[in-house]
Amino acid sequence: MIQHDARGEALGTDQPASAAAYEEALALFNTLQLDPVVVLEPALAQDPDFIAGHLMMAGFLLSGIDGQLLPAARECLGRAAASRHRPTVREKSLLAALRPWAEGDMGGANRLLDRHLVDHPRDLFALQLTHMADLVLGRPAMLRDRIGRALVHWQPGDAGYGYLLGMHAFGLEECNEYARAERLGHRALAVDPQDTWAVHAVAHVYEMQGRVAEGIHWLTEETRHWEQNNALAVHNHWHLALMHLSNRDEASALALYDRAIAPGPAAMALDLVDASALLWRLGLRGVDVAGRFEALAARWQAQATWGWSVFNDTHAMLALVGAGEASRIAQASAAIEAVPTGAPLPWWNEAGTLCDAVTAFGSGAYARCAQLLLPLLPIAHGFGGSQAQRSLIFLTAMEAARRAGDSALYDALASEAAMRKPAWTGGTVERRAQVLEVA
Ligand SMILES: [Fe+2]
Repeated sequence: MIQHDARGEALGTDQPASAAAYEEALALFNTLQLDPVVVLEPALAQDPDFIAGHLMMAGFLLSGIDGQLLPAARECLGRAAASRHRPTVREKSLLAALRPWAEGDMGGANRLLDRHLVDHPRDLFALQLTHMADLVLGRPAMLRDRIGRALVHWQPGDAGYGYLLGMHAFGLEECNEYARAERLGHRALAVDPQDTWAVHAVAHVYEMQGRVAEGIHWLTEETRHWEQNNALAVHNHWHLALMHLSNRDEASALALYDRAIAPGPAAMALDLVDASALLWRLGLRGVDVAGRFEALAARWQAQATWGWSVFNDTHAMLALVGAGEASRIAQASAAIEAVPTGAPLPWWNEAGTLCDAVTAFGSGAYARCAQLLLPLLPIAHGFGGSQAQRSLIFLTAMEAARRAGDSALYDALASEAAMRKPAWTGGTVERRAQVLEVA
C-alpha cells in the first residue's frame, strides 16, 4: 500500500520502513540536527527505488551550499529518475526543480521551486530547502513570503507546523519586521524547543536591534541545545561572537573563534564562511589574526569550488587575503574571471569587483577598496546571506575609507550606520555619530 508522510503527501513507496526513515530524517533536518544522512542511507539501501528518499538525499547535499557536493547530488537525482516506480506528481515536480540546482543553477531551480511549492505547499522538505536557497540567493522578501503563501494550507496541529513559524520568523526579521519576528520565533519554540532555526531567528532580532545583553543571554543561558551535533552550531557561535564585538569585547570573540568556530575536521563550506567573516571583522578592528587566517586559507584551498557561489568565493578570498597568500589570490582571481559571462550565478557580475576590493584592502590600497565597494552597497542584498552577514561589505567600505583618510566618505557611512544600526561597530559609530550630532 502506498505510504504517506505525516502531512499526507504520497511518498511513492509501499515500504513502511522507508516512510518512517523519511519522517525521521526530515525531523532531524527541520531541527538541523546531525546527521539525517545516516538515517536515510540504510533506508535507501533497503529500498533502492524509494524516489522520495533519493530526492531528500539530493536535497541534503544541495543544502550544504558546497560546490564539491554537486556531483553526489546529481547521482542521487539519477537514482530517483531510474527508479522502477512511477513518481508521484510531487516527486516528478521536485525532481525537475532540483536538477538545475545540481548542475550549478540554483537560481533556475529556485524559480521552479516557486511553482512546486504553489502546487505542493505541504511539502515541508521542499519548503525548508527552498527557504535556504532564498537566503543564499539574496531574496529576503521570499524568505518571508514563501512561507506566507504556504501557511493557508496548514493548521496549527499539523506535523511540522512549528517549523513554518520559525522560518517565517526569520523571513520577517530579514524584512525588518522585528517585533513580529520575535513573537513568531517564540511561538515556534513553544511548539518545539529544539527548533534551532527559530532560536537563530530570534538571535538575529537581537543582533539587528543591538540588544546585545539579551542576545548573549539568549544564546548562552536560554538556549543551549544547538551547541552540540547541530549543523547551525558554528553559525550560532558566530552570532554570539558578533554580540561580543558589539560590546567591543574582541578578546571574547577571539576566544570563541578558537573554541567553536575555527574549522574542525568535519567543517562544511558554510562553517568556513563564518570563520572567514569573523576573522575579517576582527582584522577590521585591528586584531592580529594573520596566523589564524593562514590555517583557514589552507582549509579553503582544499574545499573551495571557485566559480559556483559568489558568497562562498568571496569568503574564501577573505581568508587568502588575510593570510597574505599572494600566489593563491592570483589563482583564485583567475578562476573567478574564467567564469563565463552569463553563467547562471547570482550576482556574478559583481564577484570580480568584490574580490578586487578585498584584495585592495589586503594590500593597503584602501582608497581603491572603498571606491570599488561604494557602488555595491545599494545592491548588496544580491550577495546573498543575511543582513548581518552582508554588513561585512559595508563595514569593510567604512574601515577602508577611514584608513584611506577619506573623512567625507567615512562620515557619510558612519552616519548611515548610526541611523540604521549603531551596534554594528561596537560603539565606534555612536561616538562618531555624537560628534556628527546625528545620533
Ligand atoms: Fe544568521
